[in-house]
Amino acid sequence: MRAKASEVHNKDCVKVAVRVRPFNKREQDAGSRCIVSMASTSISIQDPRESQNRRAFCFDYAYWSHSGFVRDHRGLYVPEEPGGRYADQNSVFQDLGEGILENALQGYNATLLAYGQTGSGKSYSMMGYGPNKGLVPKLCERLFQAIRENQESGQCQVFFSMLEIYNEQVVDLLSRGSRNPGGLRVREEQQRGFYVEGLRMIPCESAPQVEQLMEQGTRTRTTAATHVNANSSRSHMLIILQLKQIFSKESTTKQSNINLVDLAGSERQRSSGSEADRLKEGTAINLSLTTLGNVISALADVAVGKRVVHIPYRDSVLTKLLQSALGGNSRTVMIATLSPADICYEESLSTLRYAERAKRIQNRAVVNESPTERLVKELKAENARLLQRLSRMGQEGRRASEETKELRQLLTHNELQIRAIQTLWEQHLQEALKDWEQQYATLTQERRMMQMHPYILNINEDAQLSGVVKLFIQEGEWIIGLFDSSQRSISIKGLGIQERHAVFRNEKRRVTLTPLPGSKVIVNGNAVYQTTELQHLDRLILGSNSTYLFIGYPSERGADDWSRYDYDYFQSELAAAEGIHLGESSAGSNQTDPSLLAVFYDYIKLMPMVAEANQMSQELNKGVEFKLEIKNLALSDSRGHDLQKDIVVRVTSRGSKQVWVWSKAKFVNRKFLMEEVYQQFQAEQREGERAEGLSAVALPREKDPFWDPVEPLLLGMAHLWLQSLAFHIPLEEQLEVLGSEGTEEAILQAQLVPCTSTGLPLGEDDILIDPTEVLGRRLDFQLVLDQCCGVRWIKEARNRGVQIGFRLFDCSQPLYTPAVWHNINPLLDHRVHFTSLCTSQRLLDYLQSSAVVVELWGLQEGCTSLSSSLEAVKMTAEGTFIIDEPGPPETAAAGSGLSGSIRALQRDLEELRSVNVSLRKENQSLREQLNSAKNGEGVRGRSMRPSCDAEFARALKVFYHSMTSVRAQLQRLHRHRPSEESDLLGLRLFVDEQSRLLKDFSEQLEQSVSTLKQDVAAIVRRKRERSGIWS
Ligand SMILES: Nc1ncnc2c1ncn2[C@@H]1O[C@H](COP(=O)(O)OP(=O)(O)OP(=O)(O)O)[C@@H](O)[C@H]1O
Ligand SMILES: [Mg+2]
Repeated sequence: MRAKASEVHNKDCVKVAVRVRPFNKREQDAGSRCIVSMASTSISIQDPRESQNRRAFCFDYAYWSHSGFVRDHRGLYVPEEPGGRYADQNSVFQDLGEGILENALQGYNATLLAYGQTGSGKSYSMMGYGPNKGLVPKLCERLFQAIRENQESGQCQVFFSMLEIYNEQVVDLLSRGSRNPGGLRVREEQQRGFYVEGLRMIPCESAPQVEQLMEQGTRTRTTAATHVNANSSRSHMLIILQLKQIFSKESTTKQSNINLVDLAGSERQRSSGSEADRLKEGTAINLSLTTLGNVISALADVAVGKRVVHIPYRDSVLTKLLQSALGGNSRTVMIATLSPADICYEESLSTLRYAERAKRIQNRAVVNESPTERLVKELKAENARLLQRLSRMGQEGRRASEETKELRQLLTHNELQIRAIQTLWEQHLQEALKDWEQQYATLTQERRMMQMHPYILNINEDAQLSGVVKLFIQEGEWIIGLFDSSQRSISIKGLGIQERHAVFRNEKRRVTLTPLPGSKVIVNGNAVYQTTELQHLDRLILGSNSTYLFIGYPSERGADDWSRYDYDYFQSELAAAEGIHLGESSAGSNQTDPSLLAVFYDYIKLMPMVAEANQMSQELNKGVEFKLEIKNLALSDSRGHDLQKDIVVRVTSRGSKQVWVWSKAKFVNRKFLMEEVYQQFQAEQREGERAEGLSAVALPREKDPFWDPVEPLLLGMAHLWLQSLAFHIPLEEQLEVLGSEGTEEAILQAQLVPCTSTGLPLGEDDILIDPTEVLGRRLDFQLVLDQCCGVRWIKEARNRGVQIGFRLFDCSQPLYTPAVWHNINPLLDHRVHFTSLCTSQRLLDYLQSSAVVVELWGLQEGCTSLSSSLEAVKMTAEGTFIIDEPGPPETAAAGSGLSGSIRALQRDLEELRSVNVSLRKENQSLREQLNSAKNGEGVRGRSMRPSCDAEFARALKVFYHSMTSVRAQLQRLHRHRPSEESDLLGLRLFVDEQSRLLKDFSEQLEQSVSTLKQDVAAIVRRKRERSGIWS
């Protein structure tokens, strides 16, 4: 579907198009739902958690590239049927590309920006993949075609430049010399505005020439990315086409700049800002993208008449270079690309909002005349005047030979100057063509090699950069590594790559790989240490994250599709080796829980980053290790529902054994800062400043991204279920405290003791048959935390301590036990008395369905322990904690949306409560009717029931007590493990002991159950006897 807004827009408003791509493999595996729909030029997006929540937007163009397409014999994606709704590359070009071309030919500056989250299709739309060429190559083709068609009317010169902005540095992607470490400078001139000093501008006269330059640029980008360990989706790529048209007849020259910008993935910008981090600088993970957002917002405000004092163009490199494109002299188009999947809802919505703001920006484009062309024009005008004077002089018959000579000289000089200006272009063009021929020969050579030898092919996180580098493994032995002084070496760079990393041997058409000591080599997800024979399409990871696909001899290749071995494939394979699976079967059955899937993809996304952080830490001697963990994998809330899972990074200092747990956002932020430190370190190394102060490494602590002050750490949780309190039954438990990933962190002995207001435990006779009896009455109980046993945290390092935190019902703050240090089995002996003065239905519901979540906190040397904040806590006169306070009066809750929904919930609760009361009444009366029907006499029935129920309660209580000891036995069994050093005899003893414990356990269980059965049978029998059925 290709739709164009019907209303006529102001010509110079930024035009905005949105495009939605097909599902990618991740999304397909997850059984994703498409939440985007389009009708004409409007697009609407649905909140996957709340289907009524739809947001609609309207743009200049809306492209449906999600479904309704087929791949034709040329490999092109085209609509299933002619005129189908699928928008292919051609239709996008017809709207956006043709417009840009037309503007440029008229002499306007033109800009095309692609904005969207990583992997949403920016590069697909801009550059394209394989035969599905994007806007840029198509635009170049059409441009040269137009030039050929208009050859008669004037000469046309095209200059091509390609640059990348990464981390605020400008890299010339077409530069042949060595890279300037600080990047190129951006300068400002009154006439020209901002420009990149020393950027290569290559004259071009055909589309294939431009295509080859783009290939060359992509190659530079790929190698630059691996060398400095940069992430390409965080960089912006700019292609600048300068077009000069010289119309000799009209003596006019038109000049236009076409900026084609593939922006960095948009989500990177926000992941950093979302969380407070001690080190703030990293909030500018992508200063250019953040600033672009600010400029767009400011300009959008200007457009709606708001007063805006300042537009922050100067705050970043990108916005400096795009100043004319935004709010200036340019006709600008933005294409916003979207993923259709439910899991990308937040990102897609944010992209649409961004695009909506951009739509409001107004530009003032004018046709351009450059000073050089004016000079030619002026020279020509002067010549014309001179000629006129000469002829006039001839006519007048005056023989002023001196003057004529002077005039003729001037004329010749001017003509020479004109020719010089024009031949300069010819010369440049010739040079560029020579260069092009050389490059072309290299490419042809490479193609020939591909047909003769096995090779490895780079795989990059950014699909645009995958397959760009090919390293051939010819017959014989080849060392791969940083080392490149030998004839028989393959030189690569990258984090964790050793001087001599590994050896490839190609003998008798078989290729093997042997890692050299101390180097990391992973083949198909598994680390290898010995010579391994490589098979066609094996996946190699060298160092921390240099990923390659092995391509065997042509005879082994067949017609297989290599594209499935993308970056994700490599990472999933690694994750699988670590035991983190997203099983094909569950994925295929479309049933994977989207939240789990998001966690899985976060995991594989962070995995290479963690590997890189570890490598940097090692090289910089930081002594810290990073490890990915899944937060809450095995944990649940107070009602037993799974807690939201998330990825965290556990940071451990090897020397001091200090531990930190960083959120995903914090880690991403820190990783960025680490890269900066690392690059600085590398630069210093290059400059030989190694000897004394490695200043990058010896950062003051407060600026060190590898360090943080220590804090208490949540080690794990246990649940103490409260149901017994509703019956006034005491409970004694040995709780297993589970860590985030399900490991046993400790055993906690805890009790719940129903008691009197003075703290005396209630007796057996106080047991309630019907828990509703507590309603409206005072309820007292104590939570007792006796002791922790086998605390793993302290076993690992004795200089640590623990604390227990817990929160009950409506307590706003958690309470903590005092800290206990240095003890594996710390005695807590902590008792807290809670009181509900007038028990509500809400508290009763809570008791019957919830648990107190007891948190085990780890303390480490130098960190302050956690303390209970008692400000908001209410106490009784006896000094007990009051819970279940009556809610605030209605009026207090008025106002915000949140309090509105709380009020609604309270109303619902009230209603449910009254329904409950009436149901209970009905139930009671039904029971009475039943009894009187059975006995013919109501009184007898009523008098008998309590005694029977009391017998039941007693039997249950006996059972309950015996179950407590059975459970203790089970826990003992759980903890019973063979010692790590046990020999065969030790194991045999262990097995004997284990079977004894099991036998005891089953006997106890048997006995408890049979006692219960007997008791129940006796009660039933008695009941029947009394009701006279047997009489
Ligand atoms: N309209 C489309 N039709 C078919 N495939 C598409 C389309 N758009 C994107 N894709 C595919 O989706 C993948 C990611 O697209 P692309 O590389 O363009 O993302 P990107 O937005 O440039 O990401 P990054 O920010 O990482 O550079 C590619 O494999 C590409 O082939
Ligand atoms: Mg891209």
